[in-house]
Amino acid sequence: MKPVRKAVFPVGGMGTRFLPATKSMPKEMLPVVDKPLIQYAVEEARAAGIEEIIFVTGRGKTAIENHFDHSYELEDMLARKNKTEILDELMDLLPNEGSISYTRQQEALGLGHAIYCAKNIVGNEPFAILLADDLVRAKRPCLRQMLDIYEQKGGNIVAIEEVPKEKTSSYGILDVASQNGNVIEVQGLVEKPAPEDAPSNFSIIGRYILQPEVFTFLEKKKIGAGGEIQLTDAMAEMLGTIPFHGLLFEGERFDCGDKTGFILANLAFAMERGDMRDGIKEFLQTNKDLF
Ligand code: G1P
Repeated sequence: MKPVRKAVFPVGGMGTRFLPATKSMPKEMLPVVDKPLIQYAVEEARAAGIEEIIFVTGRGKTAIENHFDHSYELEDMLARKNKTEILDELMDLLPNEGSISYTRQQEALGLGHAIYCAKNIVGNEPFAILLADDLVRAKRPCLRQMLDIYEQKGGNIVAIEEVPKEKTSSYGILDVASQNGNVIEVQGLVEKPAPEDAPSNFSIIGRYILQPEVFTFLEKKKIGAGGEIQLTDAMAEMLGTIPFHGLLFEGERFDCGDKTGFILANLAFAMERGDMRDGIKEFLQTNKDLF
């Protein structure tokens, strides 16, 4: 079984749900506490053992490239002021030479199209996909949990969670062949079905491990739900040819593409911070009129 060394991060989206905040700033740079969303996703991938990072960007996304590069003036100032802790943190962020690539999705044609744009950089090997909007708080990084299953089962793996039936129309939904503990064997996939058409309430979150054959199906550029080229449709075409599993991961997913989810993520991550916890608790306890 080939190891998963590369991860693709589609970061070309317009972030319309966060306008005006995202008018001149990529939505992936929105901070949860003091780190941009994209940094959480990259850190999760690295913690899972990923060696190569591939960003599929778009126009107006240079702030992401700058975030993963030197800022000499800033580094110089921090060094002169002996702010070594934050300086070390910034230096840790820098990728090894050549281990980060950028390609552009020129038109917003859907998630499947964004992934297709990474075809030549991924090449003929399995790879991971992380959607930075989905922030997962977990003891063992979500992608690492998925790789543990991948190492047993091979094929394609998606991270999943249960959603209320009325929310199936926001997600890729699994048709379940069988369930063994937290691992589900998949026999069908539907992108954003209406509740009455949904084969289950197991929804895909933004974490995938896929075999490179997916590019053969993405190449057809079939238009799916919402008039977009859907990754779910290409994955569905692979069913029956390779093993396909969903993992009910351990942890909590925050949908940071949604304003409420984003605020909840900030709250949850801030409450883990010794320097913020008491202040937030006190605010919530003394401002009952807000509820
Ligand atoms: C995408 C996928 C969907 C998946 C979701 C997870 O949808 O198309 O299958 O369930 O991400 O966040 P989007 O949120 O881009 O509409």
